[in-house]
Amino acid sequence: MNIKQILSEKIAAAMVAAGLPEGTNPAISLSNRAEFGDYQANGVMGAAKKLKTNPRELATKVVAELSSSKSLDGIASNIELAGPGFINIHLEQQWLATQLNQVAQDKFIGVTQRGVNQGDDVQTVVVDYSAPNLAKEMHVGHLRSTIIGDAVVRALEFRGDKVIRQNHMGDWGTQFGMLIAHLSDKLAGDEVAETALADLENFYREAKVRFDNEEGFADRARADVVKLQSGDEACAKLWQQFIDISIAHSEEIYAKLNVSLQRSDIMGESAYNDDLSTVIDELMAKEIAVESQGAKVVFIDEMANKDGEPSVFIVQKSGGGFLYATTDLSACRYRSGKLAANRIVIFTDARQGLHFKQVEIVARKAGFLPEHVGYQHCPFGMMMGDDGTPFKTRTGGTIKLAELLDEAIVRAATLIKEKNPDISAAELTHISKKVGIGAVKFADLSKNRTSDYIFNWKTMLSFEGATAPYLQYAYSRIQSIFSKAESAKAGAVDNNAVINIVEPQEKALALKLLQLEDTIDAVISECTPNLLCNYLYELASLYMSFYEACPILKEGISDEVKASRLALCQVIANTLKQGLDILGIEVMDRM
Ligand code: ARG
Repeated sequence: MNIKQILSEKIAAAMVAAGLPEGTNPAISLSNRAEFGDYQANGVMGAAKKLKTNPRELATKVVAELSSSKSLDGIASNIELAGPGFINIHLEQQWLATQLNQVAQDKFIGVTQRGVNQGDDVQTVVVDYSAPNLAKEMHVGHLRSTIIGDAVVRALEFRGDKVIRQNHMGDWGTQFGMLIAHLSDKLAGDEVAETALADLENFYREAKVRFDNEEGFADRARADVVKLQSGDEACAKLWQQFIDISIAHSEEIYAKLNVSLQRSDIMGESAYNDDLSTVIDELMAKEIAVESQGAKVVFIDEMANKDGEPSVFIVQKSGGGFLYATTDLSACRYRSGKLAANRIVIFTDARQGLHFKQVEIVARKAGFLPEHVGYQHCPFGMMMGDDGTPFKTRTGGTIKLAELLDEAIVRAATLIKEKNPDISAAELTHISKKVGIGAVKFADLSKNRTSDYIFNWKTMLSFEGATAPYLQYAYSRIQSIFSKAESAKAGAVDNNAVINIVEPQEKALALKLLQLEDTIDAVISECTPNLLCNYLYELASLYMSFYEACPILKEGISDEVKASRLALCQVIANTLKQGLDILGIEVMDRM
């Protein structure tokens, strides 16, 4: 059910009938004021400008077409011309009710894979997200990539697109020489890998100290990288041990975060190793890369600075070593070729913007990325502390993600216990995990993706405002109504009850509920889960107003009204659950 799409089609047809060129965008958007109707079509303005005609006259023709063709009969109760050429559309209450009753029969499965979109439009989308560097433990910097990417992936799957997750883990490169040299010494004593690598941060620090200070160690480390990259078995074995343990650390975090990444989604930098020299050979053969001071370089004229100097993109170092850039070029070819992607989406922090611009230009030139394949780097801002500087521990160190998540759960437990002192220990554990993790995720996902944001425990764990606890609470309140309703002993509502839209609060809810798919489409096109967060918050707020204004179980309410409102509550609960599920946030019946 996509209102915007229905209106777009009808109005586009009327625009053509009124003499506008085929393909003119009707530009349908939600009205921001109720007196302007529910939706507006603003496309006439732009079209008139192009044709150099009077927009109001043109809009009058379009409105006349709509009324003579009767195409919106039964859908809109009123279509009016406004201002210099806007068309305001008031939807028919009965139509909304019919649509909503249809949605009520839909299967909300509370998990993704609803597959609304089927047939020709299905896209293969490669989504590159999370991608921690395995040399160290996951820190807060990887939270955003992991959860924003996962929300977009689930939104795509909800719509029915084919998603291929790619966890482009940093598992290669010079640091690994230092790490395997250190590991090899530890194992030569009687330590086993699991204990030596129990604390990856510590291990990294020890290795780095030796690298910087210990005579001969740095040379050994460098030699080990070369051996590793050329396939030496002993080095590969040490590396594999290290990587396995580091991946296991990440997996613990994924599980805690309720993120859908699996081991089979890992396609780390190392996986491209064998292809890198071919990439360079091709770039050289096509004269895209040239030799410069011993290195192989692409001079990108398209990205020249204001003095006309091209942007320099190194693809192979003078010693022969490959770089992050080389791997990304190879990844372009793999994803558009082997994986047959229609669209490639990559989530990293904003500082990598330049890198991905360079990669795209070079990959397109080299034919690694055909024109029809979309390449979209989705940058995000940083997580800041209360003082507005990058989020760090009190001593200035990076914050381990695992510790941050544990703290969220402990804080949520304190909060829940305060609200509900008699809660059993088992239930407390269960709920505080969902609330704590949900709070961290929602706080992050609800922010504009590209801006920096301030991480604040107090606001994210509040039961008021746009927070996970507020939404989870709204959901559980609906469940408690169901358990109170005698008609719904098993939590089930009469599925055949008809929802009647009578009160203004009910109309507002109907309209909102029918916008889930519009919202998800918008999330997908710009990779902005914050739109879904806003939507869910508005939905929950409308529910709260409805609950105040429209009694459900009170004495004197007729059975018909009771059944209608319970059925409406069921659609609200389903939509909240479905929406939160796309964000990877869980709900519970009681909290
Ligand atoms: N490992 C990188 C980092 O931590 C992110 C990798 C993103 N993906 C890519 N194809 N380069 O910043």
